[in-house]
Amino acid sequence: MNFTALHFIKRVARPFYAPLYNQLHDLLRGARRYRYLYKEIKRVRARRILEVGTWRGDRALSMIRTALHYTPPSEVEYYGFDLFESLNDAQFKSEISKWPPSVDEVKRKLNATGVALQLYKGDTKETLPAALRALPKVDFVFIDGGHSIETIQNDWNCTSQLMHETTVVIFDDYWPHNFNAGAKPVVDAIDTNKYIVEILPIIDKFTHKDFGALEIQFAKVTRR
Ligand SMILES: C[S@@+](CC[C@H](N)C(=O)[O-])C[C@H]1O[C@@H](n2cnc3c(N)ncnc32)[C@H](O)[C@@H]1O
Repeated sequence: MNFTALHFIKRVARPFYAPLYNQLHDLLRGARRYRYLYKEIKRVRARRILEVGTWRGDRALSMIRTALHYTPPSEVEYYGFDLFESLNDAQFKSEISKWPPSVDEVKRKLNATGVALQLYKGDTKETLPAALRALPKVDFVFIDGGHSIETIQNDWNCTSQLMHETTVVIFDDYWPHNFNAGAKPVVDAIDTNKYIVEILPIIDKFTHKDFGALEIQFAKVTRR
């Protein structure tokens, strides 16, 4: 089989095997915290999902597939924000980022799910405030874009405006021992008179090339 045929089969088949592949990949990497995403999406029967930091779209596929267990594709909406191919070296460094593919590549991958899809390319400090007025309230938010405090603060300030009574917001990268980046400073400053803030108990441990030993948790935020 030549490379083009293999590439084509991979592209068509990926939406079907990606959720299983993701779970296996997370398990092998020792990333156990992601199970909370699917559990919460199922629990609130989320139909409108917003992800800050779509990256390769594989997490989006798993979240969408979870929603499709109980909702037809015509009723599921996914909103994804990422720098995509506009990410530059300076942002890569300041956001402690990963390199994403192009928005078109991710769109092709996610289109196969049949759900309504909107992808926003650019820095969320610009794209999220600009999109706010046109966006509906959403059921589930996953904040996993840039890792600078400024960006995560912006992402929370914006997406918190899209919460309704039962919306669940999950922050990735709550680093219990790192205070100069990651979600901890933002999450710890959330007004607990207005929101219920839970640091979810699973701790994933990695060795990061810049930080050394790194512990990662999810933080879950809902409205009181
Ligand atoms: C850790 S990856 C996201 C992983 C994805 N949520 C998943 O679980 O597979 C972070 C993504 O955030 C994007 N990103 C970083 N800084 C950003 C910013 N300021 N605005 C928009 N996207 C940003 C990067 O391009 C990268 O694709």
